[in-house]
Amino acid sequence: MKILRTVADVRRAVAEARGRGATVGLVPTMGAFHDGHLSLMRRARDESGLVVVSLFVNPAQFGAGEDLSTYPRDERRDAELAAGAGVDLLFAPPVDEIYPHGFATSIHVAGLTDVLDGASRGAHHFDGVATVVTKLFHIVAPDAAYFGQKDAQQVLVVRRLVRDLDLPVRIVACPIVREPDGLAMSSRNVYLDADSRARATALNRALVAAEAAVDDGRTGADEVLAAARAELAASGIEPEYLELRSPHDLRELDRVDSAALLLVAARVGAARLIDNRTLEVRSS
Ligand code: PAF
Repeated sequence: MKILRTVADVRRAVAEARGRGATVGLVPTMGAFHDGHLSLMRRARDESGLVVVSLFVNPAQFGAGEDLSTYPRDERRDAELAAGAGVDLLFAPPVDEIYPHGFATSIHVAGLTDVLDGASRGAHHFDGVATVVTKLFHIVAPDAAYFGQKDAQQVLVVRRLVRDLDLPVRIVACPIVREPDGLAMSSRNVYLDADSRARATALNRALVAAEAAVDDGRTGADEVLAAARAELAASGIEPEYLELRSPHDLRELDRVDSAALLLVAARVGAARLIDNRTLEVRSS
């Protein structure tokens, strides 16, 4: 696996692989790899001739008071894990390679970014994500790009910008990877002390309780949300948001008819965690 630092080097390496007839898969990341990231890399490996992983802690998507300066960084460990997953190129640019002096452009996906994490973290968050992802798509020009479904709103934002800007890339959303006790894998889980780590499992339990409510025929949003909220409360967790929304456009739903997305964000100890689950009325 090669580690590249510049846009020009990536373009050269990708052009060379394309010249050999290879298709290109991109996994955009901010590093601190866990099994969730590795599942994206393996999927890209299965489906592409050349696998590119970007490793860039994107300052534009962090707000004041967020964890940009403390975000876990260990490039050597990440490079070993990526190589083990069969990655060909690790693109790990310095900040000024992505945002050169005078950088003044931003991509804003309206509507989808007004709610949930966009409301909690502020508009800069998804503008930062959309801008860096658009740049990465232009730099790497992948056939497919792989994202984790844990960031369900991010996946919808990226799908929308790809559609609106006619970007020729297929977006692949990969399933959430969980710890054995159900906690969704996240680079931010390292912030959890032992007590918070135990309490954090309530997020997944809340989603599962909501699913059980739907399976029992309690499909109204109030009933679904009450079931989830009770699990969070039992672990002393007050959600930043807990909402039932359309998996297609994040419209608020008042009941689970066909598929619905239940999304939660909560601060647990020193970590801000998010999770989600698709709920469906199952025919018996
Ligand atoms: O999901 C992430 O790690 C980031 O938001 C992404 C997509 C790499 C953009 O910085």
